[in-house]
Amino acid sequence: MSLRTEKIWLDGELIPWEEAKVHVLAHALHYGTAYFEGIRCYALMDGRSAVFRLEEHLRRFSDSGKILGFPLPYTIEQLRQATFDIIRANQLKECYIRPLALVGLGEMGLYAPHNPVNVCIAVWPWGAYLGDEGLKNGIRAKVSSFTRHHVNVMMTKSKAAGNYINSVLAKNEVKKAGYDEAIMLDAEGYVSEASGENIFIVRSRKVKTTPLTSILPGITRDSILTIARDKGYEVVEERFG
Ligand SMILES: Cc1ncc(COP(=O)(O)O)c(C=O)c1O
Repeated sequence: MSLRTEKIWLDGELIPWEEAKVHVLAHALHYGTAYFEGIRCYALMDGRSAVFRLEEHLRRFSDSGKILGFPLPYTIEQLRQATFDIIRANQLKECYIRPLALVGLGEMGLYAPHNPVNVCIAVWPWGAYLGDEGLKNGIRAKVSSFTRHHVNVMMTKSKAAGNYINSVLAKNEVKKAGYDEAIMLDAEGYVSEASGENIFIVRSRKVKTTPLTSILPGITRDSILTIARDKGYEVVEERFG
């Protein structure tokens, strides 16, 4: 996968990809004070493109900022337009979209309420998250020895960059053991979520998934549960082992 494109949207401007840089003393690099989104733009059969639930992703992006105490300096409408602008500027029919907000250069130290919040939106072609092979034939997942965040440890409803150290540790652990993805348990041993996805069990027309207490409220999760209900499945949101 190449991240290289023509342009990146940074702080309100479309700039050349190679100029989209942050200072090494930016707060986010030291303390993980950034948050992001992962969104897909799909090519449609009729030649047009469509972004999957952009509004909901941008709302969660904005909520992450509020939850963490570093609100976005842009409105959702501005970011919606910026998303379309950056896809068009790179002439991509189908791509992954990565909005990122980071606490930038200013004060060092944990308490830096006046540092700027820099925002970028990058896009690039990115195939199936767990590979085409995984999409076709399924993947092998292993329970990680790393416990998923407890709601009193991290702000689990925010897509905070710092939260993802936990995911990276779990992913690296299971990859080394020859698996594709890590299933993570909560502090009491119930299934929480995977390193980068929510988890569902489907059995006898019943779909079971973890309640939202301490997981990222996935937009795919919401879509899956809606479709499952529409198709007559019983949907149960409860902890399971
Ligand atoms: C930890 C975690 N849980 C769940 C999800 C699923 O979220 P969504 O369906 O909105 O992509 C993600 C996606 O990035 C994630 O990183």
